[in-house]
Amino acid sequence: MKNSTLIPGLMLCASLCVGSPLLQAQSVIPIPLKMEQTAGTFLLKKTTPLYTNLQGEELERLKATAEPGTVKHLKNLSKAPAGCIVLEKTETGVPQSPEGYALNVSPDKVLVQSRADAGLFYGLQTVCQLGEAKPDGSSAIAATQITDEPRFQYRGFMMDVSRHFRTKEFVKKQMDAMARFKLNRLHIHLTDGAGWRIEIKKYPQLTQFAAWRPDAVWKDWWFKENGRKYCEEGTPGAYGGYYTQEDIRELLDYAADRHITIIPEIEMPAHSEEVLAAYPELSCSGEPYKNAEFCIGNEQTFEFLENVLTEVIDLFPSEYIHIGGDEANKNPWKACPKCQQRMKDEGLKDVDELQSYAIHRMEVFLNEHGRKLLGWDEIMEGGLAPNATVMSWRGEEGGLKAVRSGHRAVMTPAEFFYLDYYQDAPISQPEAIGGYVPLEKTYSYDPVKADMTPEEAALVYGVQANQWAEYIPTDEYYEYMMYPRLLAVAEVGWSQPSRKDFADFRNRALTAVEWLNAHGYHPFPLKDEVGHRPESREPIQHLALGKPVTYNAPFNESYKAAGDKSLTDGIRGDWTYSDGRWQGFISRNRLDVTIDLGEATEIGSIGADFMQAAGPEVFLPAEVIISVSDDGQNFSELKRVTHTPSREPGFAFVNHTWTGKTTARYVRYQARSGKELGGWIFTDEIVVLPPQ
Ligand code: ACM
Repeated sequence: MKNSTLIPGLMLCASLCVGSPLLQAQSVIPIPLKMEQTAGTFLLKKTTPLYTNLQGEELERLKATAEPGTVKHLKNLSKAPAGCIVLEKTETGVPQSPEGYALNVSPDKVLVQSRADAGLFYGLQTVCQLGEAKPDGSSAIAATQITDEPRFQYRGFMMDVSRHFRTKEFVKKQMDAMARFKLNRLHIHLTDGAGWRIEIKKYPQLTQFAAWRPDAVWKDWWFKENGRKYCEEGTPGAYGGYYTQEDIRELLDYAADRHITIIPEIEMPAHSEEVLAAYPELSCSGEPYKNAEFCIGNEQTFEFLENVLTEVIDLFPSEYIHIGGDEANKNPWKACPKCQQRMKDEGLKDVDELQSYAIHRMEVFLNEHGRKLLGWDEIMEGGLAPNATVMSWRGEEGGLKAVRSGHRAVMTPAEFFYLDYYQDAPISQPEAIGGYVPLEKTYSYDPVKADMTPEEAALVYGVQANQWAEYIPTDEYYEYMMYPRLLAVAEVGWSQPSRKDFADFRNRALTAVEWLNAHGYHPFPLKDEVGHRPESREPIQHLALGKPVTYNAPFNESYKAAGDKSLTDGIRGDWTYSDGRWQGFISRNRLDVTIDLGEATEIGSIGADFMQAAGPEVFLPAEVIISVSDDGQNFSELKRVTHTPSREPGFAFVNHTWTGKTTARYVRYQARSGKELGGWIFTDEIVVLPPQ
């Protein structure tokens, strides 16, 4: 994929729309602010020259992504000949944003104007998307006038390279596509329990040991008995990898040429099993394979983190350094004498404040070195560090709270922007971690809320898709999960809401999928999308509809759906347990409800659906008991089913229904988890039907 962002690069446009005669202007993603098609076409060839008044580094940057020999510096651009592309850096008649541009395609010339080279680059990306390929390899560009600029400054993609390592060539290939769709931040999740991925000269064990493991597939490594161990680099069969500092510099150069800022993430204080296996003295237990969190009471922890960040800061020029901050298990700190001493010395009232203390210290360190701190929304617990920016992933709450308190936020809510979730009916897909985030859902997101003040709205820095990789072992599957949903994120981040229209976007995304396929990517075949779970589309009529339900064991408050009405409201769930329709049970490991039908009723069947999503520990029940009663006290059992829960398959639905003929007033439905796996039980409706 070398040079695949080549600019006027017919290589880019050539195979764009083979077989689709008139795509042209409709196919630009993200949709520009103003776009008007005029008469005629400009013929773009591989050798079409680009004349520009850019100079120095900016000129070199442009050359780096253009067809060799095509870029020429010209002081007086009015002298540019017909049949060329003119790229003019100018302050007049251009959008305010340095990423914005004005584009005028006429039959004899393409003129791109912007106040900065970023805008010229994005104008060229638009030109490439406007082209319609001809059989001779040239490309016809519909004469068009465009004025365009981004809605948000931060338009990001997060790549998890810890759970499964991705080569630098693969990262570059994804940056090519990011640039094409005007995404400008690559957040790279370089460290996590599954492997450390960046060379730190001061701590060689991070890459000689903590970057390698005996199993290639994360799931095998994570779940096997005695798993989650690391091994020395070079051990036969060792899986892993890391970027040398030279690799990082190469990636940074590549990113800069494409106007992408790479933001490194170094996880702390949690998700650090790999560090603590290599340097166990930094954990509360002092032993390897015991903790995932650094010991915050230990000064050596801060010495380590600051030394690591010093090398990271030396490498990465980004304004922001991401320090993770998510999902800490704070319990070990409660029992650790050093952590307790720290809390006493610093007057910290709980372990939330202890985490906040650590984050705050890292912020001071970063600020002293001219950088800013970015972290997952948990960094707000125990008090947000004064200059921090919050990345809101557990829904929007963290981000909303951050902007209300004067902090910047990047919105990455999981239910819209987690690209490791299923994008289509899970039964039709390779195993994913769970969830259901189809293209339309991602596209529907708007990070700015009606009740925000203008000041708060201005603190919404932008949006980002996150692609965790526990269940994504291969490059092909990685791209399959990434595209085309990343294109929806690009449009959410760039385009004004008034310009958004899902049906239109979907058509453009179909074209983009063709382009991606033609350029060696492996996108999800959007045209074959199955869509929502049919049962979720309309309410179901049945005898228990609206009837009161007594919970003999409680539902979980986080997955309460419609509360005590949920199992008899006629509303069925979609493909994910977190859609607010499925009800979840984990305490006492069981579902146990009694429905009062109000009077003795003739019954022909009693059934319910259950879901398995092994990643998030949702399992099919080990036992189901269906029984009925006349008085609500004495029940007679109609059906009992047993099953041995297992992590396989990763995703499944099962229906457990009794059918027959009986008369009763009360229906009881019980389902329990297996002892071995435990986990969640989820169901969406207890369906009671009359005899046929
Ligand atoms: C996260 O998904 N733990 C940020």
